Amino acid sequence: MDENALFKLTHGIYVLGTTDGSRCVGSIVDAVMQVANKPFVLALSCGNHSYTKSCLHTAKEFSLSVLGKEADPFIVANFGFQSSRDVNKWENVEFEVWEGLPYLQKSLAGIKCKIIQEIAFESNTLFLAEVLDCQIGSQDGEPLTYYDYRSYYKDGVIKIFNEQKDRMKGKQMTEDKNEGKKWVCTVCGYVYDGDVPFEDLPEDWVCPLCGVDKSFFELQ
Ligand SMILES: Cc1cc2nc3c(=O)[nH]c(=O)nc-3n(C[C@H](O)[C@H](O)[C@H](O)COP(=O)(O)O)c2cc1C
Repeated sequence: MDENALFKLTHGIYVLGTTDGSRCVGSIVDAVMQVANKPFVLALSCGNHSYTKSCLHTAKEFSLSVLGKEADPFIVANFGFQSSRDVNKWENVEFEVWEGLPYLQKSLAGIKCKIIQEIAFESNTLFLAEVLDCQIGSQDGEPLTYYDYRSYYKDGVIKIFNEQKDRMKGKQMTEDKNEGKKWVCTVCGYVYDGDVPFEDLPEDWVCPLCGVDKSFFELQ
């Protein structure tokens, strides 16, 4: 089986917003599609490792801000390369709260959804969600696709993440504690379980699943 075939399936790139009960949280998602039109229903897949997934289970509602091809790579780095467990991501961007959910001020569209069903797999949870409301956003242009991300956009995201780590981490929520924690790839969710201590891996070591370097791993 050549798993690269699955990268030929493409989707858009979205900032998902929800709440953990005390603050707005969220992440980048691409695994979203419309699966019914009466009522309008979307399918969303979330990695089980993500804080967003655990919050959706309780909040039962989320927003999607649709990114365009002109979207600032900082947005993808901020929401996709770190966890809301550690950082208040929304404080790093311009956003507005509408009916309790956060939306980017600059996006192609905003969509509000209510979760109606949840199916758990080993790696991911599939949410089916009814569209409660949606509107065209303040930006024009074509949607950014996951194919765009992999073919030319990703390098800019990695660059800005490395350059602006301080800006993003400036809003830390907690301190790292090594005990009982695992090194997890913040891009794809791979959990490092090798015999060599993670800290001792060579600097050119890369994630075996998605290929990003050690700097994208964090203790969770
Ligand atoms: C381009 C891109 C697409 C992604 N697509 C998804 C996705 O569809 N579902 C998902 O759960 N995570 C996806 N991720 C990973 C999450 O955004 C990432 O693990 C994030 O750090 C999770 O943050 P959280 O712990 O605050 O939820 C994607 C990341 C990137 C960069």
